[in-house]
Amino acid sequence: MRFALSAIGFAMILTLPVEGAQAEASYDAERRVFRLDGGDVTYAFKVSRDDLLQSVYWGERLEAEDPIDGPEIGGLSGFDVTANVVPQEYAGWGGGLFADPALKVAWPDGNRDLVLHYRSHKIERDAVTVELQDIQRPLTVILHYTIDPDTGVIGRSASIRNDGDMSVRIDRAAAAGYTLPVDERYRLHYTTGRWAAEWQRGDAPVSAAGTVLESRRGSTGSENNPWFMITVDGETTEQSGPAWIGALAWSGSWRIGVARDVAGRTRITGGFNPFDFAYSLAPRETLETPVFYAGYSDGGMGAASRVFHRFQRQSILPRHDGRLPLRPVLYNSWEATEFAVDEAGQMRLADLAARIGVERFVMDDGWFGERNSDHAGLGDWQVNPEKFPNGLKPLIDHVQARGMEFGLWVEPEMVNPDSELYRAHPDWVINFEGRPRTEGRNQLVLNLARQDVRDHLLGVLDDLLSKNDIRFLKWDYNRNWSEPGWPSVPVDEQQEIYVRYMRNLYYILDELRRRHPGVEIESCSGGGGRIDLGIMQRTDQVWTSDNTDPVDRLLIQDGYTQAYDPGVMMAWVTDSPNWVNRRSTPLSFRFLSAMQGGLGIGNDLTEWTQEDFATAKRYVAAYKRIRPTVQRGDLYRIDRPEEGDVRSTTLYVAPDRSQAALFALVQGTHRLDPRRPIRLQGLNEDARYSVERMDGEPLASATPTEASGAYWMRHGIDVPLRGDFQGVGLIFTRQ
Ligand code: GLA
Repeated sequence: MRFALSAIGFAMILTLPVEGAQAEASYDAERRVFRLDGGDVTYAFKVSRDDLLQSVYWGERLEAEDPIDGPEIGGLSGFDVTANVVPQEYAGWGGGLFADPALKVAWPDGNRDLVLHYRSHKIERDAVTVELQDIQRPLTVILHYTIDPDTGVIGRSASIRNDGDMSVRIDRAAAAGYTLPVDERYRLHYTTGRWAAEWQRGDAPVSAAGTVLESRRGSTGSENNPWFMITVDGETTEQSGPAWIGALAWSGSWRIGVARDVAGRTRITGGFNPFDFAYSLAPRETLETPVFYAGYSDGGMGAASRVFHRFQRQSILPRHDGRLPLRPVLYNSWEATEFAVDEAGQMRLADLAARIGVERFVMDDGWFGERNSDHAGLGDWQVNPEKFPNGLKPLIDHVQARGMEFGLWVEPEMVNPDSELYRAHPDWVINFEGRPRTEGRNQLVLNLARQDVRDHLLGVLDDLLSKNDIRFLKWDYNRNWSEPGWPSVPVDEQQEIYVRYMRNLYYILDELRRRHPGVEIESCSGGGGRIDLGIMQRTDQVWTSDNTDPVDRLLIQDGYTQAYDPGVMMAWVTDSPNWVNRRSTPLSFRFLSAMQGGLGIGNDLTEWTQEDFATAKRYVAAYKRIRPTVQRGDLYRIDRPEEGDVRSTTLYVAPDRSQAALFALVQGTHRLDPRRPIRLQGLNEDARYSVERMDGEPLASATPTEASGAYWMRHGIDVPLRGDFQGVGLIFTRQ
């Protein structure tokens, strides 16, 4: 018996078995409490005495029999009335609310008061739908809740419907508000950065001085990522303690606000960025918000990341024929040639790439229009006849004959003013009439909110993929918005650009995937400027940074993997000294850094020595052995790199624990400082594991070649590293 059944109430419990795991959604009619259980998590909320939807519990899974309820909450004083003190699941701005509202609207008569009361609900399998309505006016909000049976990750979004016969302006719309119980020790973790310096870790105490993570850039951005983690100071570490983690599935301007409210609870509200936002909701129209996903683990920051990675692999990343394909080892021409691509040069690189075991050959920028630099050509997606006199076919055939598939770089959403497309359609870009059009990298943003632009782009890309055997698109996006105007529609619809652009981008991606199911796509935005759960639902891999220095990259990878799956994180080995910071590093060190995600190679292979080829061949072969573990396994961040003198130890353990891959890298060692043994995690205690180096070299003399999982986890392994840019990769195999 889960909840007491009363004469007037009912309890409805439906279970959905998925790969052995169970999720349950239920409603206790007596207490008016909703409950979702999945993985190790329980999430509960209730209808308050005042018919507000009130958060009750979010954390470690509770017993099915536990009688979950929340207190009746009233106002604190005349200054803080009930609406402001109740931790509402989805608060309308009105009725005395000062905390972050989820929804703020304006009716044509100037009324801007919105008080959302519970009306009805539906329980379906592992989902709950709750309908809220304004106390007087015809506006309905339908809240959608799901829980993932395996990981306990909650998905929340809202459908905002205008049931009246006049338009309503929406000034602000969140996907969801999450609440954490009273505690003064919360710490917010986020990422920050800029081009070539993405994914830096940041943290701040959660206090009454709220923190806003956001992008006003029209796209996800790298200044902040739409992701958060909250831990408890003094309690949570990488390996233990409570951690809440969440991310928005949205690639446009977004906002996540985190603050302690007047009653001491922490509220997290995330959705569309309200800055410059206005959406004119016509009669009978519904605005769908993005989904705000969030999970919980009591196993520390590491476990919270692992839960989120697993959730992404199971429920976010696109499948092909029902499967999540492994990332092929790719070669990309960008750092080798920049814009100077041509048939002979690319064929030569393809010959050399094939020699080391590359599986996907990607030609980057420069192949189309008058694209000889970043000053011209974007928008003209016809093959440049001087560089490729016979089109792409000879190169594609050449690549395929060497056992590789062919991929191509595109940047569909952009146009250079110096292009045929812009000369024909100067009105197709985002702009304010008569104002300067600020250029970024000599380019402007096409207004995808326009139907004609959307249809044009879909047509061009569809044509490209139909006429050529292209298996992969690197989809780039190299600037942010400026002058975000849409002059060709009525004034009250112009700010809908923030929503409509993104919906059309998603439409194009979805439609291309439907028409060309064999094609994979990478999300790139001058590096990691557009990585979020929304774009990841439609792309197969992501590019975290143009910064390919292997030391900087360890920091970038550590920041990125807090939130996102390492399996789809592309990382390239490139030339030394690195073009960003002029740092010189050994080739083996660069491989060990890049092998921790989806491995790529971006070197000018025509400059390589025989020894370089031999080194690369060895590491590529080792990578293919550990690839399923790196791309599908559990990531343990054993030593997290810190700014300055980077030292990083990461471990990937196969889901069935049959293999583990350990990467230990140091930027430099000092004196004769001893290094403590590395203790593994996640192995089978009783099983025996052999160990070998990825480069085939012998182990240090005192290291056993085989021992129990318990030995590797308790005693650990000595990894003696001395010198600058030293690294070792080890493969543990269960016997
Ligand atoms: C962006 C990408 C690079 C490369 C260039 C091409 O900067 O991040 O990888 O594709 O564009 O212009």
